[in-house]
Amino acid sequence: MRQRLAETQIFWREFRQTFTSTGAVLPSGTSLAKALARYVGQDHQQHAREASGPGIPSPASHSHRVDNRHTSPVEGVPATGSTAKAQPENGHSEQVLRILEVGPGTGPVTAQILRQMGPRDTLDLVELNERFVSVLQERLQREPQWQAHANRVKIHCLPIEELTTDQPFDIIISGLPLNNFSCAMVAAILDRLHQLAAAQAMLSFFEYVAIRKAKSLFCKLPQRQRLSGIEQILTRQFAAWEIDRECILANVPPAWVHHLRLPGKMDFQ
Ligand SMILES: C[S@@+](CC[C@H](N)C(=O)[O-])C[C@H]1O[C@@H](n2cnc3c(N)ncnc32)[C@H](O)[C@@H]1O
Repeated sequence: MRQRLAETQIFWREFRQTFTSTGAVLPSGTSLAKALARYVGQDHQQHAREASGPGIPSPASHSHRVDNRHTSPVEGVPATGSTAKAQPENGHSEQVLRILEVGPGTGPVTAQILRQMGPRDTLDLVELNERFVSVLQERLQREPQWQAHANRVKIHCLPIEELTTDQPFDIIISGLPLNNFSCAMVAAILDRLHQLAAAQAMLSFFEYVAIRKAKSLFCKLPQRQRLSGIEQILTRQFAAWEIDRECILANVPPAWVHHLRLPGKMDFQ
């Protein structure tokens, strides 16, 4: 409890000092973290196959869900991604998943990912704020749940735009405050995430409910145009790749979690 309070204080301080990149007053709550980590620990290939067929039962969550699942735009592309087969252990998926979390902050979503990760899965954390990176490093050394996976967790202190990899990721979870960025930056970041994704990779990210509408009410024309540009960029992404979204009311403030299945970058295949 004391730990959670300390992390909240750090987050609040960073919100005031680095408002644009931090983009939230509080770290994500447990329900939001769970929704973001939903695809970790599941049979990823199984999900990819099921996504093009009818009737996937929805996992229970404290959320209102809008299921826009449709036939994958990359139907016919084998759902291999970067994954390798391994023996199932502790009820986890048979696959070895490469997981990327962008903008982990003080780590509320990271904690959930680690809880659900398989014993061979790897996790790369990309965080540009070095004070958040220190918190993450400390948690990795101190908390048993984190220590259990420590040799498969890498922390990168850099902006996601600069991350390079020779192997694509199967699951990408982003906490980036896209609505604080310029349209060009949002487009560049989404492009980068597509480049880092394996075929059929899942991208899960959130935005606060009605945030663009609310901001638009109080800002000047250039800001309204920027927000409208972001809306257009995201709408195109959703139309092409979104398979599900859930509204997490049990968060301050409430948030939409978007789940997109990405085609992956052909360079990796
Ligand atoms: C809204 S906070 C989310 C923090 C955490 N995931 C949570 O849910 O509480 C956004 C995080 O993204 C980080 N960030 C912002 N821009 C970034 C970038 N270009 N690359 C990597 N991290 C970035 C911020 O430093 C911050 O930790």
